[in-house]
Amino acid sequence: MATLPQSARETRAQTYFSKPARYLRRNHRVKLRAELVADILGDTAGKRIIDLGCGDGSISEALHGSLTLVDSSPGMIEVARRRFGKRARYVCADLHAVEPEAHDIALCIGVLAHVDDTARTLDAAYRSLRPGGLLILQLSDHSQAVGQLNSFLVSLSGKLHYRRTTLKSVLDRCHGFELLDCRRHFLIPAGLQRLCGGAALPIERLVARTPWLADHAADAMLLLRKHHFIE
Ligand SMILES: C[S@@+](CC[C@H](N)C(=O)[O-])C[C@H]1O[C@@H](n2cnc3c(N)ncnc32)[C@H](O)[C@@H]1O
Repeated sequence: MATLPQSARETRAQTYFSKPARYLRRNHRVKLRAELVADILGDTAGKRIIDLGCGDGSISEALHGSLTLVDSSPGMIEVARRRFGKRARYVCADLHAVEPEAHDIALCIGVLAHVDDTARTLDAAYRSLRPGGLLILQLSDHSQAVGQLNSFLVSLSGKLHYRRTTLKSVLDRCHGFELLDCRRHFLIPAGLQRLCGGAALPIERLVARTPWLADHAADAMLLLRKHHFIE
């Protein structure tokens, strides 16, 4: 497996995610993302699923099928292993270096903000799928004010710097995929979540269900299908 040069952003993200507890305790967004993924995919029984940048596996937990969890953080993989046991296969590696296999479904959630090159990550997701396979791809849309504000607030800690993706820039790089669905959510930026307390999750659920609010949201969850033709 190749060793890849890393930018300061990627190195910083790796350091940050090497301590899972810090990330996991602050995230009601993960719960909403897991709900959206389960809703978009419906019944996944019998499907081969790969979760690229799985973290602790929260997003995949509700999914049936055979599961491969990939993350470059040994700490995250360890938390996932404790959670899933023999239900999943684990790969602790850079997702870009994972050997391609024909999965029915790939997830790439919360990852694009921490890698240098959208096209390279999309290529890895593409290679992990069979023709006609589905990719769920989450991104932070920096064409939205709340996306910019959130990134600014996150960067104040100095521990993470999101890459400034936009919905358009990501869609422009989705060669080989067809867009089937796009769900928008997330209107409460970092820091303000704590002020909202237990109301944060119901508010975000409402945002995801209300088109005129979702149109201004920072996160986009895309459902893409790999083209059937062979390149
Ligand atoms: C924001 S977390 C998201 C975790 C999970 N997908 C979720 O939504 O709960 C980003 C995860 O991607 C992992 N990650 C970042 N870059 C990666 C890479 N190049 N290869 C594999 N994992 C990566 C991090 O270690 C971290 O666990």
